[in-house]
Formats: sequence, C-alpha cells, structure tokens
Amino acid sequence: MKEKFIIQGLGGEKALSGEISVNGAKNAVLKAMAASLLFADEVVLKNVPDIEDVARMEELLTALGVQVETGKNKDKDTRKLKCGKNILSDMPTEISKRFRASIVVSGPLLARLGKISFPHPGGCVIGARPIDLFLEGFQKMGATVQEKDGAYFVEAKDGLKGTEIFFRNQSVGATETFMMAAVLAKGKTTLKNCAMEPEIASLAEFLVSCGAKIKGAGTTTIEIIGGGKLRAKGKAYHTLPDRLETGSFLILGALAAKDLLIKNCEPEHVSALLEMLQYSGVKLEIGKKSIRVLGGDFSNADLRAFNVKTHEYPGFSTDLQSPMVVFLTQVAGESLVFETIFEGRLNYTAELARMGADITMWDANRVMIKGPTPLKGRELESPDIRTGYAFVIAGIIARGETVIHNVYYIDRGYATIEKRLQNIGVQITRVGA
Ligand code: EPZ
Repeated sequence: MKEKFIIQGLGGEKALSGEISVNGAKNAVLKAMAASLLFADEVVLKNVPDIEDVARMEELLTALGVQVETGKNKDKDTRKLKCGKNILSDMPTEISKRFRASIVVSGPLLARLGKISFPHPGGCVIGARPIDLFLEGFQKMGATVQEKDGAYFVEAKDGLKGTEIFFRNQSVGATETFMMAAVLAKGKTTLKNCAMEPEIASLAEFLVSCGAKIKGAGTTTIEIIGGGKLRAKGKAYHTLPDRLETGSFLILGALAAKDLLIKNCEPEHVSALLEMLQYSGVKLEIGKKSIRVLGGDFSNADLRAFNVKTHEYPGFSTDLQSPMVVFLTQVAGESLVFETIFEGRLNYTAELARMGADITMWDANRVMIKGPTPLKGRELESPDIRTGYAFVIAGIIARGETVIHNVYYIDRGYATIEKRLQNIGVQITRVGA
C-alpha cells in the first residue's frame, strides 16, 4: 500500500527534546540471517530491528527451506533460523529483486549446496550496483558462472576451493559474501582489499564463536580456513546498534533539537560524523552508549560550513550523505560534498533546491551547497532508504507542510520511525494513500 508521511515543519526552531533509542543494524542482521545457511543447527538472532528488509530476508530464506521463527511479546526482536532437510538452490526472483542484501545469500548458499541460481539483485537506485566482484570471486573459488535472461547459474561440482581474492573495489557485500562462502570451502581463502565496516567484524566474531576459522575481519585482509558446517549450540548473535540510525538521529538533533538523547548507540562507529558536527560548532555530550545533542541558544546560521567526502569505513559513510546535505543547507558558508562510492547518489538534491536550498551540481559525484537557506515544505517522493529519511529531516526543519510519498523505502531501514519521532516532538503522521 503506498503510504505517505505528513510533516508540519518547525520553521528552523530547535524544538525537539527527549530520548530516541537506536535499533539493531539492518546491514548487520541481514547478513547474520544469510549466515544461517552455514549452520548444522539452529541460529538465534537478538535485537533484530522490525524493518521491511528483515521481512524480505525472512521470506527469501523461508522460500529456500530455512525455518524462521519470530519471538513473541518481549522476545519480538528475536529470530530463530534453522535449515530444513532440503535447502533449495534457486533464489526466487521476485523477493531477491526487492533488496540488495539478497545477493549476500549467494555465498553461503553456494558453499552449502555447490550449485545456485539468482537474479541480478534489486535495492536502492543509487547507482548501477554491479555484481562483477561476486561472479569473478565464485569463478576464482572453482565455480562455473553462466548468465541467462538476467539470472546467474553458478556451479562448483567439487565444492568451493579456497583461493586468494583481491577486491578491486572495496565492497561491503562482496567482503561478507566471500568471508561466509570460504567458511565451507576446502582449504584457505585470503581476501584482500576488504571493506572494514563494523558489521563485518561483528559477523565474523559470531561465526568464529560457532567454530569458523576467520582472522582479520575489520582489516583489509581476512583469512578463512574452510571446514564443516558451523554449530551455534544455543549461542545467540546480538545485533550491534545501527550506526546509520545513530548518524541519522544525530543530524536531525543538530538541526532541530533543544536537548536530545540518542540511546543504545555505539559512538565509536560514527566518529567521522561526530568530528564534523563538532568542527561545525554543534554541542555534543558523548557517552559510552549514548550521545546527547544540545541545541543551545545559537542558531544553525552560527554553525560553520565544511567540505565532505564520502569514504569507505571508517571514513564518512555514503549512507549519511543525504542527511548531511540537508544539514549543510542550514549552516553558514559554502560546502562541497563529494560522493565517491555511488555514481547516482546525489540526484535527489534537485528536490531540496525546490524547497529553497542553494545547491549546484558540479557533476554526478559533486555538489556545492551555500547556506544558510530556509526551506519551505512541499510534496516529495522518497527515492531510497537514506534519502527518504533525509527528506523527513528537511520536512521537519522546513516552514509549512511536507508530504513524503513511498514511505515503504523508509520503512525498509527505519522501524516505526514516525512513532519514535513523534516521541521527541516531531509533528509527523502516516497516512494510507
Ligand atoms: C552496502 O551495500 C550497504 N548495504 C549499503 O547501504 C552501503 O551504502 C554500501 O554497502 C557502501 O557502504 C547493505 O549492507 C545491505 P558495496 P553494497 O558493495 O554491499 C561497487 C543502505 O542504505 N561494486 O560496498 O551493495 C559498488 O557499485 C545501503 O543501508 C562493484 O563495483 O555496497 C559501489 O560503487 C544503501 N562491483 C562500491 O563497490 C561489485 O560486485 C561499494 O559498494 C559490488 C560492488
């Protein structure tokens, strides 16, 4: 159902206050769910966020023959996954195309069965989203790869073999996919130029606790010694806090909060953003598992502009780029934003310009922002998860009413977002189309 959000803007007033709690990380839990295919026994996942992409991953794994059980009441954030007797090798097209993370299933599934088929994955339209690193990696591990009518058929008759893979692009999904595939491969696999996002080390730590031999996760070189199926033996994976929720709430707080406490977060995982906001003049109190944003008695026009370049972790995350652009429209001065990861991730800025922002696109990867400019509410279409949320921030700080369509995208990454925002003073309602 095409739902929409209706937001009454604050017109630049710093009115938000209270507490907002960060959920488990989407980009960690989806891979931990896929990892269930590496196990001989049941896998328990905790602190699972109630988001659409988790529902899609449950549908995908269930279609492949994994039994998925959701906890009740106070355990509703728990999932139990157990591979059934016969796991299917063909990833269903319709479900797989609805989210990018489905591609990560290909690694553990191929490692378990020796033969799979899958469609080109879907997900946010932020760029071409190629999968060449996956297809080449499977071939390097001894599999044959055929492409037919937009689907890929991969087969490793004698099972996957350990090898060395140097990723010519640092890729989060490819790093996770081959780290998992190598767990059931024969012999040693060395992955080089790996991504270092904290979700990767978190996944590796859990797999090692269940018998996997993985070294180096969180650095650019990961070594895996293949072996048999893993056993959780009742151990649970506890999903780490979503650093993208943390960053998204931090930016909202910096723009519109009187006094906002962001709880259950990992400040370390948003270090680049914290540095930028503090440089700009935002008042923050950083705790062990919380961050407090103090609106103070200054206006955003007193905050300093700065240049931003998105970068692989621990650099500034591309997933916080659109919320950051909204922030930079409100500070004094010129900011150049350089999106280095995805080639289609700045297209939305034209919409912000229509709200009154002064943004000039230099090329597909760079925009120049001049602030501060007051924003005026208007109708917007959410193009992807993170920009959808960035439009929510824009609507909250704008003058007047903003309507955001296609909130399914926002629900893919942010659970019960309007309720959590209402609790800190945002006038936002969800309306069925
Ligand atoms: C993950 O996507 C995240 N998604 C994305 O978050 C995030 O933006 C991205 O990493 C970068 O940090 C999930 O974890 C589910 P990549 P992923 O492979 O793994 C190129 C969100 O909002 N590339 O790290 O798909 C690719 O085109 C989402 O939560 C190839 O060239 O991203 C990009 O330029 C949006 N060939 C670069 O690598 C390949 O085979 C990094 O992409 C694969 C990727």
